[in-house]
Amino acid sequence: MAKYMIIDGIRADFDQEKNILQVINGMGIHVPTLCYYSDLSIYGACRMCMVEDERGSLIASCSTPPKHGMVIKTNTPRLQHHRRMILELILASHCRDCTVCEKNQTCRLQELAARLELNDIRFPNTRKQHPIDDSSPSIIRDPSKCILCGDCVRVCNEVQHVGAIDFAQRGSEAIVTPAFGKKLAETDCVNCGQCAAVCPTAAIRIQTCHNSVWREIYNPKKRVVAQIAPAVRVAIGEAFGMNPGEDSIGKVFTAMRMMGFDAVFDTCLGADLTIMEEAKELAEKLERDAAASAGQAVNGGTKDATQDDASGKKVSFPLFTSCCPAWIRYAENLHPEVLPYISTCKSPMEMFGAVIKEYYKKQDEEEGRETVSIAVMPCVAKKMEAGREEFIRGGVPDVDYVITTKELIRMIRESGIQFDEIDPEAPDMPFSISSGAGVIFGVTGGVTEAALRRLVKEKNTQTLRDIKFSGIRGMEGVKAAEMELDGRTVRIGVVSGLGNADNLIEKIKSGEEHFDFVEVMACPYGCIAGAGQPFCHKVDKKERMKGMYKADSAASIKRSEENPVVYNLYHGGVLEGREHELLHVHYKRAEKA
Ligand code: SF4
Ligand code: SF4
Ligand code: SF4
Ligand code: FES
Repeated sequence: MAKYMIIDGIRADFDQEKNILQVINGMGIHVPTLCYYSDLSIYGACRMCMVEDERGSLIASCSTPPKHGMVIKTNTPRLQHHRRMILELILASHCRDCTVCEKNQTCRLQELAARLELNDIRFPNTRKQHPIDDSSPSIIRDPSKCILCGDCVRVCNEVQHVGAIDFAQRGSEAIVTPAFGKKLAETDCVNCGQCAAVCPTAAIRIQTCHNSVWREIYNPKKRVVAQIAPAVRVAIGEAFGMNPGEDSIGKVFTAMRMMGFDAVFDTCLGADLTIMEEAKELAEKLERDAAASAGQAVNGGTKDATQDDASGKKVSFPLFTSCCPAWIRYAENLHPEVLPYISTCKSPMEMFGAVIKEYYKKQDEEEGRETVSIAVMPCVAKKMEAGREEFIRGGVPDVDYVITTKELIRMIRESGIQFDEIDPEAPDMPFSISSGAGVIFGVTGGVTEAALRRLVKEKNTQTLRDIKFSGIRGMEGVKAAEMELDGRTVRIGVVSGLGNADNLIEKIKSGEEHFDFVEVMACPYGCIAGAGQPFCHKVDKKERMKGMYKADSAASIKRSEENPVVYNLYHGGVLEGREHELLHVHYKRAEKA
């Protein structure tokens, strides 16, 4: 028998819904919420989501499971009064400088105040001014704008297993802060920015540098060159009324040229370079492992894939991917034992950054100009990565500024460009070609798929299909697949979300799981859901993922090694004889581990 409730006089069937709120949402009614986030545990603190049952009791819809026959109302005068009262109390102790706030027009608190038509706050202003913590290269903490919803604490603990921030003190003194009042930069924070992505207000927001980029653009002595990451293309259009997943990379190139950038490139080319190097590393590892299991001497290569655990038992580690800087920082801070098994490949952004700087070197000398390298990224951890000492050569960073998708949106708006109306253009020469393999780097499983395309011997549509359906695609946080490579079954793991990586590492160490290759992305679902992208819900992230695969399907070149620009870079181009120097990295902290 179908289970149902009566909501505002209408029958609503339900099945797997965890709470009344999900049933109400399913009817197309959006009850106001402030502390509910479907991917996290239920906190139930704000009471904004209250509904009224048939006995007149008010119940929190986010933390009450649906029951067959339940009768509820979602918007009675009593509920309206209750919600306004909660909001007034929050706003009484909140900074209300909306017009000059970073989150103006994207703030959920502001949106609710407008929706509930709150025109007056009857309570005295009890706002406390807390110092701003801008010690992190990626995010800023501004506790005066915090509404104590706890979303950030839960995402950092439950999804990322980092626990860099928590509630401290009680009652009116309560605050979200790193332990012992430390600054964020002094904690194990990995700069993933997921706390900023879920924060409904501007209490945790991303560091921005787009104003510095404007200054560089208007400096005639500078050549401003930009690369745009794969995942930007399927999200940026959302800010201009386009659908999630709609590929607008061509419009991005046009807009950036109109703004004054001297050259615009696609980071997918950097991803192609990553695949050339990472697939080589994987092939070498598989060869070493095969030789070791056949009892032959293991020569060359970077490291033995096994190490002794505390009890002297051999642990066999996979090759871990290295494109995600938050994952690298997580391994450094919380799992240093896996550092020797992380690929030495730089991320696509850093590879391309090094290529850009080398390519323009001579031209800069001749013209008396200086190339400034900008990266437009869906990710806030990239801001931290760009400043790492390993990526500064001769005192000059390979990437000078990282701006997020959201910052680029602001720049486009500021310049008055009608993004939805402009025609798409192509990237600049000589880096104008990239493959579909490079595009799918932006979704969880994409790096693995691109590496497998490179490694399979048979280069035909059937092998492309075999890889596609091997189990590495999809929204799940943990995926496992097996592929035949050179007569050997290779076991692959794909994880997104650092909590999932943590669990997988523990399973590998205990011997419960064995993998040859593991892809890790810190953000759940991969870069499409990076903290630098416009905020959206899971359903829209799915559309972004579809958009990435659609762009891959449309690409005429599917494999990185078939990209002629890649060939030219290795043969007579800036990479000839300098692959190791420009494309690989040895993290300093890894040496200390
Ligand atoms: S966080 Fe939101 S409500 Fe607070 S000042 Fe900023 S925009 Fe206004
Ligand atoms: S950036 Fe990531 S690791 Fe740092 S506090 Fe936020 S969620 Fe935690
Ligand atoms: S910092 Fe943001 S997400 Fe965290 S508790 Fe405060 S308002 Fe909520
Ligand atoms: S959204 Fe339900 S209690 Fe906050």
